[in-house]
Amino acid sequence: MPKILSRLAWVLMMILSLLVALTAYRYLPRIGPLATNVMANRFVDPFLSLHVAGAATALLVGPFQMLRGVRARWPSVHQLLGRIYVLGCLSGGIGGLALALGVTAGPIASAGFGLLGVGWIVTTSLAWRRALQGRLTDHRAWMIRSFALTLAAVTLRLYLPLAFIPGASFVEVYQAISFLCWVPNLLLAEAWLSAAPSPASSRSL
Ligand code: HEM
Repeated sequence: MPKILSRLAWVLMMILSLLVALTAYRYLPRIGPLATNVMANRFVDPFLSLHVAGAATALLVGPFQMLRGVRARWPSVHQLLGRIYVLGCLSGGIGGLALALGVTAGPIASAGFGLLGVGWIVTTSLAWRRALQGRLTDHRAWMIRSFALTLAAVTLRLYLPLAFIPGASFVEVYQAISFLCWVPNLLLAEAWLSAAPSPASSRSL
């Protein structure tokens, strides 16, 4: 991808991530418009707070971890934000898995969000382990996969208006979105990794 396009893609991703993360924090004091289906989730307490606090924080710091300039100039900032990101993903993932068991849209949506939660915890844990082992090529690859899954929070909200098309069934659309919000992200991440397979040829997202 030409450099200008990859920069534009990063700016768009950063703006959308910040918007979703900052608006998500309203679920902590439970202020403002809250999704009724989510508030009816059987496991809303205390898992929604754990999930939102961790996931929104991961989404907030994630885009900056992708910047090569930050990694090269301020490695300690990258490491500090990295620890915050991992903690955010793991607590967000554990909370997300509990919520997945209680979604009002039923077992298909539970499977979609549940697999996303498992994938998120696994990719983030592997990325973290590879960093501790000094295997930086693998660390980069697993972090790109992990962040593609973190971005499910953004893509889910881009698809959500489909549920309000007249005649569409909210439950069926929500079931489809529980997979659509992350499977294409992961495929794109794999395509990105094949195009820029090693740090020598790496680019910022
Ligand atoms: C990537 C793994 C994730 C999983 C497995 C996951 C799972 C879930 C589930 C199952 C729910 C409840 C849905 C329902 O009951 O209908 C939920 C709600 C929510 N999640 Fe996540 N989520 C993930 C990522 C994120 C991220 C990165 C954010 C960051 C902002 C986030 C923010 C929220 C918020 C704010 C809600 C409340 C409902 C809403 O406004 O849509 N989630 N999540």
